[in-house]
Amino acid sequence: MSGHDHQNSVRNDHDHESRIADLLAQMTVEEKLGQLQQLAWAWDTGPGGGDTAAAEAAARKGLLGSVLNVVGAEASNALQRIAVEESRLGIPLVFGLDVIHGYHTTFPIPLAQAAAFDPAVTAADAEVSAREARSNGIHWTFSPMMDVTHEPRWGRIAESIGEDPYLTSAYAAAKVRGYQGDDLAASDRLAACAKHFAAYGGAEGGRDYNTVDVSEQRLRNLYLPPFKAAVDAGAATVMAAFNTISGVPAHANSHTLSGILKESWGFDGVVVSDWTGVQELIAHGSAADEAEAARRSLTAGVDMEMVSTTFVDHGRELLASGALTEERLDDAVARVLRLKLRLGLFERPYVEESAAITGPTLAARAAAREAAGRCMVLLRNEAGTLPFDPAALRSLAVVGPFADSGDLLGTWTLPGAPEAVTVLAGLREALPDTEITHAEGASAEGTDPSGIAAAVAAAEAADAVVLVVGEAPALSGEAAVRSELGLPGAQERLVAEVAATGTPCVVLLVAGRPLTIGAWADQVQAVVMAWHPGIEAGTAVADVLTGAVVPGGKLPVTFPRSVGQVPLYYNHERTGRPYDPAAPEVKYVSRYLDVEDGPAYPFGYGLSYTTFETGAPRLDHERITAAALEAGATVEVTVPVRNTGDRTADEVVQLYVQDPAASIAQPVRRLRGFSRVRLAPGEERQVRFTLGAEDLGFWTEDPAGVFLVEPGEIHLHTGTSSRTTATRTLLIT
Ligand code: GLC
Repeated sequence: MSGHDHQNSVRNDHDHESRIADLLAQMTVEEKLGQLQQLAWAWDTGPGGGDTAAAEAAARKGLLGSVLNVVGAEASNALQRIAVEESRLGIPLVFGLDVIHGYHTTFPIPLAQAAAFDPAVTAADAEVSAREARSNGIHWTFSPMMDVTHEPRWGRIAESIGEDPYLTSAYAAAKVRGYQGDDLAASDRLAACAKHFAAYGGAEGGRDYNTVDVSEQRLRNLYLPPFKAAVDAGAATVMAAFNTISGVPAHANSHTLSGILKESWGFDGVVVSDWTGVQELIAHGSAADEAEAARRSLTAGVDMEMVSTTFVDHGRELLASGALTEERLDDAVARVLRLKLRLGLFERPYVEESAAITGPTLAARAAAREAAGRCMVLLRNEAGTLPFDPAALRSLAVVGPFADSGDLLGTWTLPGAPEAVTVLAGLREALPDTEITHAEGASAEGTDPSGIAAAVAAAEAADAVVLVVGEAPALSGEAAVRSELGLPGAQERLVAEVAATGTPCVVLLVAGRPLTIGAWADQVQAVVMAWHPGIEAGTAVADVLTGAVVPGGKLPVTFPRSVGQVPLYYNHERTGRPYDPAAPEVKYVSRYLDVEDGPAYPFGYGLSYTTFETGAPRLDHERITAAALEAGATVEVTVPVRNTGDRTADEVVQLYVQDPAASIAQPVRRLRGFSRVRLAPGEERQVRFTLGAEDLGFWTEDPAGVFLVEPGEIHLHTGTSSRTTATRTLLIT
């Protein structure tokens, strides 16, 4: 931001604050409480679902702050006109919606985007989404979700950036900036929402909404960094999480909401509850009734209540009893008014209906296609089966329940968003001279094997076969928790019988989570993880299978061998008796007796159609004092990488740190740098990383928040996955 922009921004803020003071002086207690209420529009019929009449009535009385799930510019303007032109003070509504990975143009799911190891992918999603949603009267998206998780059983891993806080932090900041830009009042920007605060991804058993019991150090080292990155990037709002945090529900947790978020980090935006999350304090056993739920939540730091109405119903009595102070009420209202002023809603409350974007543009589709291609991860490619050579491939069988399916958009897709281009259509377009046959083989979930014979016959008759298998989007997302991670239904049998034909077999996996890839993987020549790739699924798959796009994605989550290993993640601590693969005979170590140790595929792993070599890291100095680091000094790490193959392609060079001896046991690896570079055959690049105190230290157990950079060795590991072994030692004195 230039000096001039900064002056404007300061003047704006000053103007905003004086307007807030003026409004607060005019507002009744009911009008103040009304600003803290968000109701749902009729589109959503979930629990406590939408009621447009109630929203209109409250807006007309000036007793409503926000509405979620309004669809379309006309509906948005109609509701806004009631609030602005019929209520006493004419305070505009702010309209929210879950624009998680697309409005009309559905991008790959966030977990797929994470696999690109390229925050520009998520920024592209955010920019296209903001343009489309704002033009249709939406001001605020409940995104990005930034819950770090080690739980592939948890359906919402699909919305996450996976198991690493550093990668998640980079994506969180990029997506906030992509949605918000430099001016929230712009007609193509959205207010972002950092969610779910906090540690929602730590639910026991991976069961959604379940208990989270977490140490202060793990809360601060694993779950909070992405939120700090989002707040530092200017996130306008934060959403509270459904779970408890060590016994105190996130919706009533003053330590996290006020102590950390608002006081320590200086967050001056809006904390919105999750759907009925305030009222659920009763179900948690943390509030005896709705009045107590309202008191605990408001005083802990929630500013706006989504769908349940305890603030409006009990706020006046809480004020009268002194349980809620006028100061806290005014603070919450001020935050809501500040959001609306920053969005420019007082000046321009209505959206230009004629300018509403009504569907995906060609440019938006192209952006979604490029994103999907960058997200795919090549897990296996024997004998150079991929890429197909269009000139030589005479016939191809495309089989599986998702071969000719448009249901590849993923969870949190908005109603009316166009379905995905099918894999079959994408391959037919990319291989016009190849005879392409299709057989479903098995359904996405049913166990009926009767279709497998036709798929086997199609594979036998073709030069190669693409098997499109996995899980439907309905099996991932909120409340979609699986106790198994294998291919549902008869799909594994389908893969085994098709592979047994001996026809070169490529498995394309579509899913919203890591899957346990069974013994069938050894029976096929190639495996590509395509996730749920969004609207341009089929074209992006064809780009990758034909080599128009060389896969360069890496896994943002560990793929376990068995669900029994879960939780299994790369950034684990060592334990006192770590398993040593070089000494498998040692009995008393931390391992399972009935499954090979470690994951099927580790964090950061992904192959290419070419090969790369990375050299050992070089440091600009081998030792540095803790004091210098705390004063802002940094260590430069340089890693050489060369394309040793015959195709231009991307490689993701990764830098991990390990503190082998610290006052709090540290993870064996912590990602602290990644860079996706494109290299021509034979080209070499020096990839540079900068390490500062925040990369080398850690938070302690102290609830007041103490960050330590301790003297001692730090081992730096660089390479192209979390299993890399090139090491250098930095000495902190
Ligand atoms: C849901 C989700 C949250 C979403 C909200 C509004 O329950 O937990 O992520 O933004 O309700 O739909």
